[in-house]
Amino acid sequence: MSPPLELSIVVPTFNELANVGELIEHLRKVLGETGWEIVFVDDDSPDGTAALVRCMARIDSRVRCVQRVGRRGLSSACIEGMLASAAPFIAVMDADLQHDEAILPAMLELLRADAADIVVGTRYAKGGSTGDWDRGRAGLSRLATAASRLIAQPDVSDPMSGFFMLRREVLDASVRRLSAIGFKILLDILASSPGKLRVAEVPFTFRARAAGESKLDELVIWEYGMLLADKTIGRFVPVRFLSFALVGGLGVFVHMAVLTTLLKGLGLEFTLAQSGATAMAMVFNFTINNVLTYRDRRLTGWPWWRGLATFMAACSVGALANVGIATYLFESRSGWFLAALAGVLVGAVWNYAVTQLYTWGRKAKPA
Ligand code: GDD
Ligand code: MN
Repeated sequence: MSPPLELSIVVPTFNELANVGELIEHLRKVLGETGWEIVFVDDDSPDGTAALVRCMARIDSRVRCVQRVGRRGLSSACIEGMLASAAPFIAVMDADLQHDEAILPAMLELLRADAADIVVGTRYAKGGSTGDWDRGRAGLSRLATAASRLIAQPDVSDPMSGFFMLRREVLDASVRRLSAIGFKILLDILASSPGKLRVAEVPFTFRARAAGESKLDELVIWEYGMLLADKTIGRFVPVRFLSFALVGGLGVFVHMAVLTTLLKGLGLEFTLAQSGATAMAMVFNFTINNVLTYRDRRLTGWPWWRGLATFMAACSVGALANVGIATYLFESRSGWFLAALAGVLVGAVWNYAVTQLYTWGRKAKPA
C-alpha cells in the first residue's frame, strides 16, 4: 500500500519536454516515503510535454497531467492544478529546475507542525539568492516587489516567488476571489485571502534554467499592472474593459494620424479618408487587444483572421450606435461634449461586450 496522499506538487508547463523527466527524478529522491503526487498543468505545448508526462504517468501513478487547450497563463494553470488535487498540502514550482526541490521537506515540515499557513521559497531572505540574474532583471524584480506592497501584507520578503507551499484551506478561502491574471500566483493568493496569513519563508538559491527558454517576455509587466489594477479598482470596473478602453484611446491617435496622411498627404476626399482611417484603427485595436487584453486567449493563424472579421463587424455596429446616440442627445439639446462622450461610452461598451463574446469568446475557438 502506498502512503496516503499528503503533498501535491503543481507544476505549470509550457514547452518543458526536456525538463519534466529530471524534475520527477529529483522529487523521488527528495520526498522519499512521503505520500506525494505531481500535477503538471500543460497549456497544450507544441513540443509535446503533455504526451511525455502521460507516458510517465502510466509507469508511476503519482504523476498526473492536466492539459488545457486554447488557453494560456501561468496563474490560471496553477489554480486549476491545485483544484485538481485532493492533497491537504499543495506546493507550486517551476518545471525548469530553477527552484531547489531540496527545500520541499523543510517547507512541508513547517505546515505539518502548523507553524504557518503558507511557506514561501524566497530568494531575498538570508541564505537566499537570485543566482546569476543580470542587474536589469534583479532591479525590475525589486521594483515589482515594492509595488506589491500596495495589495498584499507587507511582511513577505518575496511575494513574487513562483515557489511556495500552502495548506489547502488557504486555497479554499481565496479561490473565488483570485484574479488569475498573469504569472504572480503567490501574490494573487496573498492579496485575495480574507484573513491574515501566517507566512513562513525558506531561503533557496535560484538556479539557472536547465533546458529551454523563459516564457516571460516584456508583456508580463503589462500583465502585472493588470493584476494590481484588478486587486485595487477591479471591484468597480472589470480590468479587461479598462485595458480595452485604453487601447481604444490609442486607436484614436492612429485614426487621426492615418486620416491626416490620407487627407493632406494623398489628397483623398474626406469620406474616403475617414473610412480608411476607421478601418486602420480597427485593425490596430484588434491587434493590440489580441496581444494585451486577451493575452490568455490570443488568436493566431486562421482564427486571427476570423477574429479580425468579427471584431470589425462588431465595431462597425458600435460606431453606428455611437453616432446615433450622440446625434439624438445633441438634437435633444445636450451639450455637444456630453452627447459625444455618451456616444463614445455606449459604443465602447457595445464593442467590448460583443467582441468578448464573438471574437475572443468560446465561439472563437483558437486553433
Ligand atoms: N501552463 C502554463 N501556461 N505554464 C506556463 C506558462 C503558461 O502560459 N508560461 C510559463 N509557464 C511555466 C513554465 O513552463 C515554467 O515551468 C514556469 O511556468 C515558469 O516559467 P518560466 O518561463 O521559467 O519563468 P521564469 O523562470 O522567467 O520566472 C520565474 O520566476 C519568477 C520570479 O521572478 C517563475 O517562477 C515566476 O512564477 C516567478 O514569478
Ligand atoms: Mn524559470
